[in-house]
Amino acid sequence: MASVALRGLGKRFGTFTALESVDLSIPDGEFLVLLGPSGCGKTTVMRMIAGLEEPSCGDILIDGQRVNDLAARDRDLAMVFQNYALYPHMTVGQNIGYPLKIKRIKGEERQRRVQEAADKVELGHLLARKPAELSGGQRQRVALARALIRTPRLFLMDEPLSNLDAKLRTVMRAQLKHLQRELATTTIYVTHDQVEAMTLADRIVILNDARIQQIGTPAEIYARPANVFIAGFIGSPPMNLIEGRIENGRFVHAAGAVGVTAADRARAVLGLRPEDIALADPADADLVGEVYASELIGDHTLLSIRIGQTLVAVKVAPDGGLPIGTKAGLKASTGKLHVFDGESGERPPVRQ
Ligand SMILES: Nc1ncnc2c1ncn2[C@@H]1O[C@H](COP(=O)(O)OP(=O)(O)OP(=O)(O)O)[C@@H](O)[C@H]1O
Ligand SMILES: [Mg+2]
Repeated sequence: MASVALRGLGKRFGTFTALESVDLSIPDGEFLVLLGPSGCGKTTVMRMIAGLEEPSCGDILIDGQRVNDLAARDRDLAMVFQNYALYPHMTVGQNIGYPLKIKRIKGEERQRRVQEAADKVELGHLLARKPAELSGGQRQRVALARALIRTPRLFLMDEPLSNLDAKLRTVMRAQLKHLQRELATTTIYVTHDQVEAMTLADRIVILNDARIQQIGTPAEIYARPANVFIAGFIGSPPMNLIEGRIENGRFVHAAGAVGVTAADRARAVLGLRPEDIALADPADADLVGEVYASELIGDHTLLSIRIGQTLVAVKVAPDGGLPIGTKAGLKASTGKLHVFDGESGERPPVRQ
């Protein structure tokens, strides 16, 4: 168990800045998720914490101790790599048991723990295979089992579920969360899947353009995304973002207007979650458009309503589907509106 702190941590590859100055404190036992699109620097952060990449600037502290100069093997952490990094000449059992071999744990105990770890990831029957004889998802689970076989002070997991099929991924997600609670081992987990981030994390750190965009609990980030990038990234489907302007306390768009509590601005973005919009009589609606598509998802129907050039997603009851081309009025739930600056994309600070 360990706390981790990053102080002004940055990484340049030649003239390219992969990560600007990152500051982050992770308390002992936390499940922290780094979330961001491809190339935003997630793996780079992990490799620096693991000691596989040297920071260009800043410090890494584990339990208050600066570890920049500590070799990877002395940092007492287990990492699951994005690309598995299995030993091809070893069997599944030998790969999983390797961390114990290094610690000179032998014979029956090693065998027992290998079996336990393999069973946790449903690979107990494949211990004699070589990695080349496994599917991508099975290889990924070998890498997971190899990390779970010992109790390091820190888990680093880089997209550990990305190669599993949808069903297994959901099962493994619940298992990982359960296990992490049980072991209470500080975990830093990388994903570009916002559902995975929302479901697993105690706190989420959103990275984009080599910088931290927002840090918060899943509920905080969902309720108050700090800018349009985050608003358009979190939620499935994510928040609708509609461009317009704010005039006399109203967001104004060619398709209508909505009352808001924000200062006038020539360019603004209105954010509305699909579940915070209701259909209304066009005569009495905030915005008016027409049905572009109607999809039954299962427990709800997703309507896409076209207003001007924008498609607005609206969640309605399963039997609430409408024919394409139907005129549709939209009413936003008061108190559930988000306003962003049209230039910077940022949520303006709350006025006192
Ligand atoms: N050794 C390297 N030399 C040069 N550039 C690198 C190197 N490693 C990473 N980069 C660049 O740094 C940026 C961040 O890479 P990183 O692997 O951290 O992204 P990521 O967020 O993990 O992306 P993904 O979700 O695709 O795995 C990318 O633009 C990448 O091309
Ligand atoms: Mg990566």
